[in-house]
Amino acid sequence: MKIKVVSSHPQQAESLAELVRQSDPGLDVVSTSGTLGELPLVVNGSRPGLLVVDGVDLAGLEVIERLALSHPDVDTIIISDDASAAFLLQAMRAGVREVLPAPINAQAVQAAVRRIARKRAAPAQARLGQVLAFVASKGGSGATFLATSLASCLAARGDLQVAVIDLNLQFGDAALFLSDTRPASNVAEVARNMARLDADLLRSAMLPVRDNLMVLPSPDDLAHAFEVKAAHVGAIIKQARAGFDFVVIDVGRSMDALTLQALDQADRIFPVVQLTLPYIRDAKRLRDLFRSLDYPASKIHWLVNRHEKGGEITIEALEATLGAGVFKAIPNHYDAVAAAVNQGIPIDQLARHSPVTKALQDIARQLAPPPAAAAHKERWLGLFGGR
Ligand SMILES: Nc1ncnc2c1ncn2[C@@H]1O[C@H](COP(=O)(O)OP(=O)(O)OP(=O)(O)O)[C@@H](O)[C@H]1O
Ligand SMILES: [Mg+2]
Repeated sequence: MKIKVVSSHPQQAESLAELVRQSDPGLDVVSTSGTLGELPLVVNGSRPGLLVVDGVDLAGLEVIERLALSHPDVDTIIISDDASAAFLLQAMRAGVREVLPAPINAQAVQAAVRRIARKRAAPAQARLGQVLAFVASKGGSGATFLATSLASCLAARGDLQVAVIDLNLQFGDAALFLSDTRPASNVAEVARNMARLDADLLRSAMLPVRDNLMVLPSPDDLAHAFEVKAAHVGAIIKQARAGFDFVVIDVGRSMDALTLQALDQADRIFPVVQLTLPYIRDAKRLRDLFRSLDYPASKIHWLVNRHEKGGEITIEALEATLGAGVFKAIPNHYDAVAAAVNQGIPIDQLARHSPVTKALQDIARQLAPPPAAAAHKERWLGLFGGR
């Protein structure tokens, strides 16, 4: 870690730098004499990870606050004559990590530097993304369309990394729903390179749709589909979870060891049904399968796709048959959906006002509440003593 020690007195700067050096011989420590007003130059010039600034008063904190805003990656330790509560509070608001009292105490300086060095050396916490598995109760139910469109809505929030994995290995088409670019790699390629699987290999096998939306397609060649085993799927999902906030899996509709692996690992399963008898019959089979696998009811989120008000079979009738509530009904909107699917452009990007887009955005908001709304809710719940 690069450390810059700043004091208006050259000698003081050098003796402070020497103290810092003694805290860990591996540190790269440089001293500079200059005024607080010159701090921005010091930081811009040498890009330190840590600044140790001597002789900071209230006016100096303003400079440090501006610096923290433009360089959030720089940690700051200050040394000050002022040990008042008001000064400490202001220092904290300015983004200072540690305030040490003057005159300098060697041990206190070294301990503070070590604390920050340790924190910066710790590996970044891996993400632990949510896995969402979409299952078609029957062919053509809309599982692929809903999985890919929801992924696009989640990514549209901007601050989430979203992956789509196409586990409909024999007849998968998820990549086509998101992009018109020909994929260079696929699930079978990753399985073949399993020994080398890491974050980089996974990302390089994925087709980028947008900066924060990637898809791992199913293989083109039917024969390659058979090379993928349940253990591969388990490892791929685990790796994806570590690098993405949401991992949306198109499971398709064949239930085998491989897809069960995905369903087991999923945090939420979205079975997709339409309100006609053949779909409902297969939905009951799925429900029985989920029960036999001991999945809790809270894991299953039934989606009714292509819903039309006034249809012969109602949502209530489906709920009674399944003995479970429907999570969301997605309206039928043929023109907008057909245009999106045919062009390979997610519906939220192509038909923002379609009722289908609105329904999917609702689901995305439910799965990932916008940060401001979440904070607001927390605050209010806190006021009322609940969570
Ligand atoms: N809400 C909707 N409104 C209108 N049309 C829809 C809707 N959802 C899906 N469709 C149409 O249904 C077609 C089939 O959808 P999709 O391919 O997603 O189904 P699937 O369950 O993945 O089928 P498969 O079993 O072939 O994988 C889509 O091409 C689209 O035209
Ligand atoms: Mg499909």
